[in-house]
Amino acid sequence: MKGIVLAGGAGTRLYPLTLVTSKQLLPVYDKPMIFYPLSTLMLAKIRDILIISTPEDTPRIEELLGDGSKFGVKLSYAVQEKPEGLAQAFTIGREFIGDDSCAMVLGDNIFYGNGLNHKLMDARKDAEKGTATIFGYYVQDPKRFGIMEFEKSTDNDRSVKVISVEEKPKQPKSNYAIVGLYFYPKGVSDMADRVTPSARGELEITTLNDMYLQQGRLNAQLLGRGYTWMDAGTFDSLQKATDFVSMIEQYQGMTISSPEEIAYHMGWIDDEMLAKSVRRYGKSPYGERLKAVLEGKVII
Ligand code: G1P
Repeated sequence: MKGIVLAGGAGTRLYPLTLVTSKQLLPVYDKPMIFYPLSTLMLAKIRDILIISTPEDTPRIEELLGDGSKFGVKLSYAVQEKPEGLAQAFTIGREFIGDDSCAMVLGDNIFYGNGLNHKLMDARKDAEKGTATIFGYYVQDPKRFGIMEFEKSTDNDRSVKVISVEEKPKQPKSNYAIVGLYFYPKGVSDMADRVTPSARGELEITTLNDMYLQQGRLNAQLLGRGYTWMDAGTFDSLQKATDFVSMIEQYQGMTISSPEEIAYHMGWIDDEMLAKSVRRYGKSPYGERLKAVLEGKVII
């Protein structure tokens, strides 16, 4: 399975912060925002990843992440000339995806929770068998998101049956946002070709999801209590994300969403590669916590 991090957009909601830098390079507490979505794909054991960003930001992101070898993954880069919608990622990434299944995560989406890797692996297996997966998360302001309507179930560990999906509905049919993480079976680029622009002129991911729903090939999993999802694209949500990560990391002393740590625990990089990163990061708290991983103090 392939993976895409879509780190596009002008980040206008964060002006003037994003006038000369990429939103996805801004800090969320102790690390750049893009470390979080990259880690999420890595937790699904995805090691071939395409990063899509703007013409200006792609070189900066590449400078930070390189070819991915320090994270035990293979990174490639592509440019989205204009922010014309999330579904466009699959046409931009057509060659990269080839005949494979593909997951996509948005560059400003942060996921946290014990057991997330199992949910991701379930979604991956379903995509490899021909069914797409979206994830639902309870929100108080459903008009701001893609929203899913589904048959209620008391067993939140299993997938739920989707009835409808709608992008930023005026009258939301539920309080469950479709988060910025999607798993699609092979052929997603051809499906994305058939998406036509919405009223706001964008190739909506929700239209793509609706196509899978109409074909009876759309699963949804709920991220219930015990999971945290945040999109860090506004001042308030960025501030909250920073508060959240600082609280967990300082309280537990462990790092959230460190690509180096995940790669090490997965066995994708060896001691020497991790030691290099520890030296590079020096005495920063991120470097210190990575050192504890290298010394075998943190085992999960
Ligand atoms: C996008 C999607 C929306 C989704 C959201 C999650 O919205 O269009 O369906 O719920 O990401 O972050 P945007 O942030 O581009 O307004």
